[in-house]
Amino acid sequence: MSAVRDVAVIVGSLRKDSINRKVAHALVELAPPSLKLEIVEIGQLPLYNQDSDQDPPQAYLDFRARVKAADAVLFVTPEHNRSVPAAMKNAIDVGSRPYGGSAWDGKPAAVISASPSAVGGFGANHHLRQSLVWLNVPAMPQPEAYVGGADKLFDASGNLINFATRSFLQNFIEAFAKWIEVHIQT
Ligand SMILES: Cc1cc2nc3c(=O)[nH]c(=O)nc-3n(C[C@H](O)[C@H](O)[C@H](O)COP(=O)(O)O)c2cc1C
Repeated sequence: MSAVRDVAVIVGSLRKDSINRKVAHALVELAPPSLKLEIVEIGQLPLYNQDSDQDPPQAYLDFRARVKAADAVLFVTPEHNRSVPAAMKNAIDVGSRPYGGSAWDGKPAAVISASPSAVGGFGANHHLRQSLVWLNVPAMPQPEAYVGGADKLFDASGNLINFATRSFLQNFIEAFAKWIEVHIQT
């Protein structure tokens, strides 16, 4: 049996009732046994300030260590004003520093966005990918994942009740498992 891969899941919403967090939970449930998905929280990270590179807050050290320990990263992001929410960008910046010690470097990744809008967070998804190019993160190109109308996909308990979306997410996470095996750093 092949190794179980540790996937750090970064959810770009801090909202209690977040749709994107529900998508992340659905992916945890649908992931094949070869992946262990764990949400790594970002809401506790102070706003990045380069001055703190000399004496970083403990929250930065813990976050960087957790990401470094992961085999791969899954970004699940809402769209704010056609871009990545500030909390997500902050987490990316915190993980990328100090210069030369980026926690993201070389980790296979995937990006999925969800929004009540029909466009499904396309703008955020691609702005995030722009950062990943610079950070040397091989991000899975296909299947693209922009989940539109996402406020209608879950019941009151947060269960995914749309079967087409369930099948789409299953296919997405299985493709990611294959992507990880090709791009994982050993
Ligand atoms: C500041 C702000 C900006 C937003 N901008 C967009 C946007 O550009 N595109 C979009 O599809 N939805 C936008 N929305 C609506 C979000 O898609 C919606 O609030 C969604 O539920 C956020 O994801 P979450 O449920 O995971 O928090 C915006 C919401 C906020 C609060």
